Amino acid sequence: MDESLIERIRRDMAFEFDRTAPPEGFPAFHDISTDRHTSDLFHELEREHLWTRTWVIGGRVEDVPNPGDYMTFDDLGVPLLIVRGTDGEIRCFYNTCQHRGAPVVREERGSSRRLRCQYHSWTYEVDGGTLVSIPDERDFVDLDWEQRCLPRANCDTYGGFIFVNRDLDATPLGDWIAPLRPMLDPFQTTALREVYRESRIVPCNWKVTAEAFLEVYHFRHIHSHNGVSVLDNRGAAMGLYPHGHSRMITPYSKQNVERSGMAAWDDWKYVDQPGMRTIDTVPAMVDCTSSAVSIFPNTIIPLGRIGFPINIFWPVDKNTTRLDWIYYALPPGGEDRFPDELSDDWKSRRSVYNQIMAEDEMNMAPMQRSMESPALTGIPINYQERRIWHLHEEIDRIIGTENIPEHLRMEPLLDPYVER
Ligand code: FES
Ligand SMILES: [Fe+2]
Repeated sequence: MDESLIERIRRDMAFEFDRTAPPEGFPAFHDISTDRHTSDLFHELEREHLWTRTWVIGGRVEDVPNPGDYMTFDDLGVPLLIVRGTDGEIRCFYNTCQHRGAPVVREERGSSRRLRCQYHSWTYEVDGGTLVSIPDERDFVDLDWEQRCLPRANCDTYGGFIFVNRDLDATPLGDWIAPLRPMLDPFQTTALREVYRESRIVPCNWKVTAEAFLEVYHFRHIHSHNGVSVLDNRGAAMGLYPHGHSRMITPYSKQNVERSGMAAWDDWKYVDQPGMRTIDTVPAMVDCTSSAVSIFPNTIIPLGRIGFPINIFWPVDKNTTRLDWIYYALPPGGEDRFPDELSDDWKSRRSVYNQIMAEDEMNMAPMQRSMESPALTGIPINYQERRIWHLHEEIDRIIGTENIPEHLRMEPLLDPYVER
């Protein structure tokens, strides 16, 4: 986050505070069809075209530190296997044996120089998934070994995170993630380690969970305590990036500016973080705002100078989502991992964050049921909810507009507002 980006955000916030309407020429959104959240048809379109073609976070490089280390990854709806090769590269294969379809490995994590199917011991090597041995070969007639290698999925890393994409022809991860790097690079994410993780099953469509983190219109109504909201949504500065990514920086409310001893909403300075290691390349703005990025399609990161949780939304079925949040930070005292027993400071951070998540979650299940009611067929979103539109536009681009029935489509409107 160089000075020019911070200055841009400051200017955008001042503009947002001052405006009395959306910016001149900003398009009028049509309603978003609730069928995008409730219908089998749209769920199937996403299953067939979106989750087969998008990058998602599958884990961390330290989850597979040594050659031969592997872990299963099932969250894209098909069983996959992430493995570090003998050459140190991390790759992804389908965890489906090419003999009779048994899972090659059953345990969630393990380590082996060869991937030997636990059923009849067909064996694949870890670097290319090549089939290297089968018992009783004499019983197969004309077996084409080359045709029986483990199928591959796309896999690459950014900042210690392993990304997986089932599409072998996808835009390379480096190009796809590039628009977010000015925001993410200062967090030195390679050095971060998992502090703790939480997981909830929420009975709603995955987009209901994602959308709750793409706007702060709800903030003072859901997250106020004793009548005080710590943020002022009217100043939120948003950036839309290519590939459906986005950012949102929200200034402190008046009460919180005073309570924090700031002279104004943009009097950004470092704040003491007792008991915490801080990442010293993170700018002061992050200490005195809510700064968040969204990695398309299903990851939201509320950034902090002590690290951050990544919130990930996994579709289980049409109206069930698994909502995970995994906190990453610098481990104490030069260690390579956090101790199993968290410090009191971390325990209290954890309970504060869990409380915020519970406030968000409270609405999600009832919303799904309401959206399924004939009482609502279209969702009128506003200018400060435009990151939601941006998410939906990109979903349509990936599914392919021609594959989507007309009444479910999004009109592409936000391209002129995307930062390139
Ligand atoms: S199913 Fe894997 S070896 Fe038979
Ligand atoms: Fe919220």
